[in-house]
Order: sequence, then structure tokens, then C-alpha cells
Amino acid sequence: MAVERTLSIIKPDATEKNVTGAIIKKFEDAGLRVVAQKRLHMSKDMAGKFYEVHAERPFYDELTTFMSRSPVSVQVLEAENAVALHRDVMGATNPADAAAGTVRAEFADSVGENSVHGSDSLENAAIEIAFFFKDDEIVG
Ligand code: CMP
Repeated sequence: MAVERTLSIIKPDATEKNVTGAIIKKFEDAGLRVVAQKRLHMSKDMAGKFYEVHAERPFYDELTTFMSRSPVSVQVLEAENAVALHRDVMGATNPADAAAGTVRAEFADSVGENSVHGSDSLENAAIEIAFFFKDDEIVG
């Protein structure tokens, strides 16, 4: 296994509930290390660019409205096998299907307001990390 970096977003529903620390603790307890982090309030336009791949989906407007509703916390997480490890800790996209102990089982309300985002592949992780961070803002 190789050391990987993946992108994590703690979404508006979770920042509104003031559970960013509780979520980061789950990541750290699983062995993921925060090597970059920022809090920002995305515009609908910025959220639209980030989720451009979903532009044709029926939920795109709902998704970008939600993601620009309140601040988000964006992290680069590093670990061996980080992409898959992070997705395990997040749990299934729909919190109704998420395993006990996962972030979404504990904190998420619905498939739309599901508390966290994580890159789905190493290739997309590199693209998503570059969307939010310059190289010199990532310090392992
Ligand atoms: P995320 O991992 O951030 O990637 C795309 C997001 O689209 C996903 O999490 C969900 O929050 C959202 N999403 C997926 N399916 C639906 C849906 N049916 N209705 C609303 N939002 C959805």
C-alpha cells in the first residue's frame, strides 16, 4: 500500500451543528492525518464548479444551494490507502445505509445533507485537492 492524499469536505449541515471537531476526531482515530485545512463559505458558483461532474443530475441545484448555505471545512487527509480509508470512515452516501460508527451514521440527516464529502479515486483526489489548495499550503 502507498501513502495517499485525499480531499475531505465537512459540509454545511455539519458546520451548522458545530461538529467539525467530532468528525475530524473520527478521521484521526482511523489514522488519517490532516496535512492542510481551511474553512470557507463557498458561493453557489464555486460549489457549482466543484460539482460540475454532477451538472446534469436532477439534484445539482439542490446540491449547490446546500453547499453554499453555510461555511465548510476543507481538509487534505494523508495516510496509507487514504482514499478508501476515508470513504470507510465516512460511511455510505445515504446515511440510512451507513454502517454504525461511521460519520454519516452519526451526523448526517439525508442523502443530500450528508455531512461529508470524500474523493472517490486517487485521480479525482489530485483534482479536488488542487481545486482548494496550492502545493505550499499542504504541509505533511
Ligand atoms: P458527495 O460525496 O459530496 O458527492 C455528490 C453529492 O451529491 C453526494 O455526496 C450527495 O450529497 C449528493 N447527492 C447524491 N444523490 C443525491 C440525491 N438523490 N439528492 C440530493 N443530493 C444527492
